Amino acid sequence: MNRDEQIEVLAASLALAQENRRPLDEAEALVPVADYVDPARFERELERVFRRALNLVTLSSQVADPGAFVTAEVVGAPTLIARGEDGRLRAFLNVCRHRGATVELRPHGRCRRFVCPYHGWTYDNDGRLHRVRHPEGFPTLQAEAHGLVELPCTEAAGLVFVCPTPGITPEPLPQALIEELEGMLGPRPTAFAATARTWKANWKLIVEGSVESYHFRVAHKDTIAPFFTDTQSTHERIGHHIRSVLPKRSITSLADVPRDQWHLRDHTHVVYSLHPNAMILLQRSHFDLIRMQPLAADATHIEILTVGQAPDAGEPSAAARAFLEKNHAISVRTLDEDFVLGEQIQRGLHTSANTHFRFGRFEGALTDWHRQIDALLK
Ligand code: FES
Ligand SMILES: [Fe+2]
Repeated sequence: MNRDEQIEVLAASLALAQENRRPLDEAEALVPVADYVDPARFERELERVFRRALNLVTLSSQVADPGAFVTAEVVGAPTLIARGEDGRLRAFLNVCRHRGATVELRPHGRCRRFVCPYHGWTYDNDGRLHRVRHPEGFPTLQAEAHGLVELPCTEAAGLVFVCPTPGITPEPLPQALIEELEGMLGPRPTAFAATARTWKANWKLIVEGSVESYHFRVAHKDTIAPFFTDTQSTHERIGHHIRSVLPKRSITSLADVPRDQWHLRDHTHVVYSLHPNAMILLQRSHFDLIRMQPLAADATHIEILTVGQAPDAGEPSAAARAFLEKNHAISVRTLDEDFVLGEQIQRGLHTSANTHFRFGRFEGALTDWHRQIDALLK
């Protein structure tokens, strides 16, 4: 978002707050409850939505230097992401080409060559098969065709995205989104704190909690609700991705401030829903990154990272660490309020109380998002 766009968004939010209006779409929308419980639909979502897309996996700062690597599950696929000696970041299926053992078991580290823990085949960190122990046993093996299987991998705005299906060309991230995130996320986003657990809720319930503000006043009454206006968020699509802007109550103070002194992050909370598996919540000087892994129709693994800027040189100060750790605890507490609701909703889905959920005219971001997902499943 350039400066003019930020001023425009602030002016629109200020007008809503001053006039006590809510942005309204044309109509309500109904979404079948079966969409959240049907295992066949869930499999289709994995296949058509997640396995064909670039999924956000980690931060570039986790794999900053040649030789650095991380391992991760990406939509069920064991994945190894490694920075080669040439500085290029590559992603591979973390599966040995001999008999399929997981090649690298550590969550992260540095390594020039990966050694399979089963029979010791070794792979360079650019994926090439380097050495086979007792090669006379494999007279027909073509080493050059048996490197680790590479996956589509993109780095943008300090974030690392991987598509878990080899050989396909996933839709690239829109250039406009990359430029906007580069501006918003800063030059060296670095994780200061992390929390992860599995929630017994469909992944769509998790996304839904992040793209409407109708629930804020009620669900977050004990945490952040007092800082925000009621049901006045706006949203915009950027390709398959969504940017939502939630105005804070302090936005009304801008009425007396010249526009060149307006700052978006002082008076709003900006949320990016990054298709298909992540959300970024921009705080004033840092951000929270939420990464989802759909495990089953009724289970989602969620990782919350609180991300700040690493200094130009040396380690972050103790004060910076303490500030972000404190903010991490607040974010986790607030987000848990959403995830607990997700679990409660999931528990009631089988009761036949509802055949459909009803999205109101100020929940239009959800309606639009469901249409997109349904279109991908056709
Ligand atoms: S399975 Fe990896 S060396 Fe045998
Ligand atoms: Fe929420």
